Amino acid sequence: MNADPLVVIQEDIFSEAASRFVRACSDSVLDREIFQIALSGGLTPKALYKALAKPPYIDAVDWESVEVFFGDERNVAPDHNDSNYLMARRTILDHVPLVASQIHRMPCEGHDLPHAAVAYESLLRKRLIPDESNVKALDLVLLGLGEDGHTASLFPDSPALDETEKWVAPNLNAATGEERLTLTYPAINTARNVWFLVTGKDKAGIVAAVLSGKGDAYPASRVDPESGELVWLLDGEAASEIPPGLLEKLT
Ligand code: 6PG
Repeated sequence: MNADPLVVIQEDIFSEAASRFVRACSDSVLDREIFQIALSGGLTPKALYKALAKPPYIDAVDWESVEVFFGDERNVAPDHNDSNYLMARRTILDHVPLVASQIHRMPCEGHDLPHAAVAYESLLRKRLIPDESNVKALDLVLLGLGEDGHTASLFPDSPALDETEKWVAPNLNAATGEERLTLTYPAINTARNVWFLVTGKDKAGIVAAVLSGKGDAYPASRVDPESGELVWLLDGEAASEIPPGLLEKLT
């Protein structure tokens, strides 16, 4: 484990996350005149995206410096209800001042996912602006947490968990047979900021296991930024099983 994660617990964790997003964007723009992010899919981040698309946050973000990528995508068309891209369009992308060239959908429809993965990685590596050490990395990766401990589309016992070089890989959710595209640990763990956004009692056990270092079986436990900051943004329920001593250390 590189640096300890920071655990932030708020009942209104979405406002906290939105405030942090504004600050992270401002810091990144000051540093490199851009804020290149990867959005998470699923249901949890919808409330954050909606908050960012309304005052006060919509007015505080330097949107023209934001460039949007995706952490993963399902093997569906971009207008399918299961599409993470469609969810993001409906909750934020269609409601904030971004132009098409600032948004990079992860095209996962079709059957040549290996080719789609290579193409998306090439796009990432071309678009990411290097820092003063000439390192190319995402400024922020937003992640959710599944009840099986998956994150992005890094599912337990799935092939992409073993990827150590590529930044984007096809993957399979064995539980559902779904094919996905996902950022891999090399892409996530080079990011400057990685945030898990988790709510609800159902995930409290997984959160506690991963933060306690007892979650080796859970893919989320291998999110460990090399030099970036890892933050767990939790509501009270999701944080409710973290041992008190650990909580004191990480908050
Ligand atoms: C996806 C996400 C996935 C999600 C978790 C949690 O494509 O579904 O990338 O990793 O973050 O499954 O999903 P919920 O937020 O809906 O619980």
